[in-house]
Amino acid sequence: MEIIITPNPETAGRLAAGYLASLVKRNSRAVLGLATGSTPLPVYRELVRLHKEDGLDFSQATSFNLDEYVGLAADHPASYHAFMQENLFSQVNFQPGHNHLPDGQATDIPAHCEAYEDAIRQAGGIDVQILGIGTDGHIGFNEPISSLASRTRIKTLTAQTRQDNARFFSSPEDVPQHVITMGIGTIMDARSIVLLASGEGKAEAIAAMVEGPVTANVPASVLQMHPVVKVIIDEAAAGQLRRREYYRHVFEHKPEWQRWA
Ligand code: F6R
Repeated sequence: MEIIITPNPETAGRLAAGYLASLVKRNSRAVLGLATGSTPLPVYRELVRLHKEDGLDFSQATSFNLDEYVGLAADHPASYHAFMQENLFSQVNFQPGHNHLPDGQATDIPAHCEAYEDAIRQAGGIDVQILGIGTDGHIGFNEPISSLASRTRIKTLTAQTRQDNARFFSSPEDVPQHVITMGIGTIMDARSIVLLASGEGKAEAIAAMVEGPVTANVPASVLQMHPVVKVIIDEAAAGQLRRREYYRHVFEHKPEWQRWA
């Protein structure tokens, strides 16, 4: 893992967006794995800026999102379809049909999940997967004790995650109980991974992910087994890392990272 500690979430977002942008410039047909929630917003703001001001071109690129709430229509304001439309897709130039999210209203969920996996394979696999992390260590919506080999499927959210996400809904009871999420095995198949986190509330999960044992109790800890993972976090989220001075030293002595700034 490479740990990059930044002064604030905006800098983290710019670094992550720079990484995605360089990938799309090198390979116009890049396949991007995208996340929702508060954490990736600075990444999407910067990608929109790069598109509008520098002509970053998404016309040949494809995207697959991690997850969607079961039962929400694509036009429900709290759906992840709506989130992605508002924060990225409507502001850049992906071709229609190139943005994929699980369908929260699929009638045959197992068949839909299998088709989602097939679509990722057909697209050639994900080049870079953006991830946030839950306060309970989830990635995607793979809650604690999810199989580390799991594929796209339906999951039940923990009470903690429903509470964490209640801010996107008019009342906490409206947060759906179930989601369709890429599995941990699906995420691990991505060729590279960028995980972002900000704020003190994520510090414990980040420390467990980076410095704890690999365990299904902290699903993000499986990323220790992936060869290309960049963890971009702010000072607050880095607050419980025992070796943070070492990580800082490594980053500061890596000239190629400076190109992202
Ligand atoms: C979102 C997702 C989740 C979030 C995580 C953190 O697509 O898969 O794992 O990344 O719950 O959410 P925020 O960023 O809102 O703190």
